[in-house]
Amino acid sequence: MKASKRSTNGRVERFYVIVFEWFAAHKRDLPWRRTTDPYAIALSEMMLQQTQVDRVIPKWRAFLLAFPTWADLAAASTADVLRLWQGLGYNRRAVMLHRLAKAVIELGGELPNDIHAMKQLPGIGDYTANAIAAFAFHNPNAAPVDTNILRIFRRVFPRHKSDPKSMQQLAQLIRPSDVWTWNHALMDIGALHCSARGHIWGLCPLAPLHGGREPKQLRTLPLQRGSKEGVPIPFERTDRYFRGRIVDALREGSMTLKALRARSPMNDIDEQRFTTLIAKLVDEGIVERRRNEVFLFGDVT
Ligand code: ADE
Repeated sequence: MKASKRSTNGRVERFYVIVFEWFAAHKRDLPWRRTTDPYAIALSEMMLQQTQVDRVIPKWRAFLLAFPTWADLAAASTADVLRLWQGLGYNRRAVMLHRLAKAVIELGGELPNDIHAMKQLPGIGDYTANAIAAFAFHNPNAAPVDTNILRIFRRVFPRHKSDPKSMQQLAQLIRPSDVWTWNHALMDIGALHCSARGHIWGLCPLAPLHGGREPKQLRTLPLQRGSKEGVPIPFERTDRYFRGRIVDALREGSMTLKALRARSPMNDIDEQRFTTLIAKLVDEGIVERRRNEVFLFGDVT
């Protein structure tokens, strides 16, 4: 074996030891880690995309009470799912979740333990399919790479090609057989210690591997999204903000476009932008429009 290969293997071994030992002593007790129900686990993964753990926990519980199974969720109206989704943001995910439930019911009521087959279903991309496979099915082929895991891999293997695809291949290559523990552990270390910023490098359990500092190659921060010059747009001016306020208003019930437009903060944007936002929400299956009336998709007027 070449010396470089041997040292890579040694590094991977040390990585395993650190991660598994850290997790045994410090793991977070998160409710979706106490269940083996693939539905409950899939629900957690759909919610955890882009929403923080603390905000997800009460919503996840409320969802399981309201819709305990795929069949209950599939039988609900999109509007009811959207109402319960309030507070999680990115309402398109609620619509995709609802479509997923319907697709699962069409398949016979259960998610397949097959990463490729899951990726054919609505709302399930590469990451989610791998996460469900790891956490619901202990599928040894699963290698979910979210932003936390990607960052850890880049820091621990700074000489490896750092684009997401190459990192995904690396994660696939070195995954140990216990993918459930391994990936939960990486997520916890990424959230609690090896975070994007604001952590104490020297206290990171992975410091023996990344040296307690950001590798040189990763030091240049990307520009903020949505602003070419690096000056961020205030959230209250973004489409995402206005979309959220429109859906919030419609959670109460249907209304005329005119009434919706007159509400704050929708009265603060120009007509063209408002019309485009509504058209997009209709296109995505979040909002329905009949003549001059708008309502959440599936809300019967
Ligand atoms: N983020 C995505 N999936 C997660 C999980 N299972 N536990 C904690 N954070 C997560």
